[in-house]
Amino acid sequence: MERLRVGFIGTGRKPERPGPQGFGMSHQHAQGYVDCADQCQIVACADIVPENAQAFARQWEIPATGVYTSAEDMLASERLDLVSIPVWPRLHRPLVLLAADAGVRGVFCEKPMADTWEASRDMAAECERRGVRLAFNHQRRFGRPFRTAKAILESGRIGRLVRVEFGTGNLYDYGSHSFDLSCYFAGEQAARWVIAQIDYRTERVVFGTHNENQAYALWQYPDGVYGVASTGEGADLIGCHNRLIGEEGEIEVGRRGKGMPVLRHRRFDGGGWEVADCGDEGVHGPGYVERAVADVVRALREDRETELCARNALHATELIFASWESSRRRARIDLPLQIDDNPLEAMVASGDLRPQPAARP
Ligand SMILES: NC(=O)c1ccc[n+]([C@@H]2O[C@H](COP(=O)([O-])OP(=O)(O)OC[C@H]3O[C@@H](n4cnc5c(N)ncnc54)[C@H](O)[C@@H]3O)[C@@H](O)[C@H]2O)c1
Repeated sequence: MERLRVGFIGTGRKPERPGPQGFGMSHQHAQGYVDCADQCQIVACADIVPENAQAFARQWEIPATGVYTSAEDMLASERLDLVSIPVWPRLHRPLVLLAADAGVRGVFCEKPMADTWEASRDMAAECERRGVRLAFNHQRRFGRPFRTAKAILESGRIGRLVRVEFGTGNLYDYGSHSFDLSCYFAGEQAARWVIAQIDYRTERVVFGTHNENQAYALWQYPDGVYGVASTGEGADLIGCHNRLIGEEGEIEVGRRGKGMPVLRHRRFDGGGWEVADCGDEGVHGPGYVERAVADVVRALREDRETELCARNALHATELIFASWESSRRRARIDLPLQIDDNPLEAMVASGDLRPQPAARP
């Protein structure tokens, strides 16, 4: 079978210090494709900043003829099978649809899905209609601590799952991963309802999109499993990256605190905590994006769905926007979510929320 022809829309610039104004995720995607070079090859890239595209092409050995400043031109000329889209969330929908319209077979887009709930749904529906396999980079699913936690849950050690919890910085930028992991542990189901409150007093714009400072959210899946999230100052309440509570025990991934193991579990009937070996893997890596890319490539070659598929990403994304909608409406939100916009951005635009500029570091 011929190797997949891969192109990039958005090459970024490898930053000295990755941060909310530029992370250079493109380079992590590229490493993933290079790691499975027997199945695919990066043949082209496009970036509106020519120097970014040229530097990326030099680093990843893309021929000069494959370097573009227009995604449209690249898509028209290169007969691509798979396109990586590591750009900021506001651009995800237009660029995903551009690639889908050009006839690619697969798209691997960065998280969070999009800047509005409508854009998230629309991308998924349009790609489904065109037979384009659309996936999002919730790469932590491929990390050993998370994989092992799921295996321990499935072994029955903590009994039937009752609750999933997470604590992190925000519900959207990082929370996209956290909700995705919650849905992964809970069996890839859409939630039934969510009730949440947020606080947004200091401006926090990450990759061009507002993020709340603090939130508390409670949701429930159709099988009765609850979810709890606490972000910002209240993340300490949870005290770890993810917790799985069962009828007979619990599992903690990424417990905060010096010297804490990345994964531990215990039964409530005694015996204390047991530590699970995760090698040198933590909650962020190494190697998770590369594994995500490998799964997307393999799935496309085998014409099957990756677990990073848009359907699974929608479960997480709905919880983000529904949490913000709950705060806007001061009510529990029954799902499916019936809004189109981004409630946090809408509340900032209307003046209902007036975050003060952040102090410069
Ligand atoms: N999965 C993760 O763990 C993780 C970590 C960090 C960031 N991210 C996500 O990665 C995404 C990309 O963020 P980043 O900071 O890496 O990006 P970046 O700023 O490093 O690069 C984005 C590039 O897109 C280019 N661009 C903009 N519009 C374009 C267009 N129309 N056509 C072609 N190129 C265009 C820009 O010129 C820039 O070079 C964001 O959605 C962010 O949330 C994910």
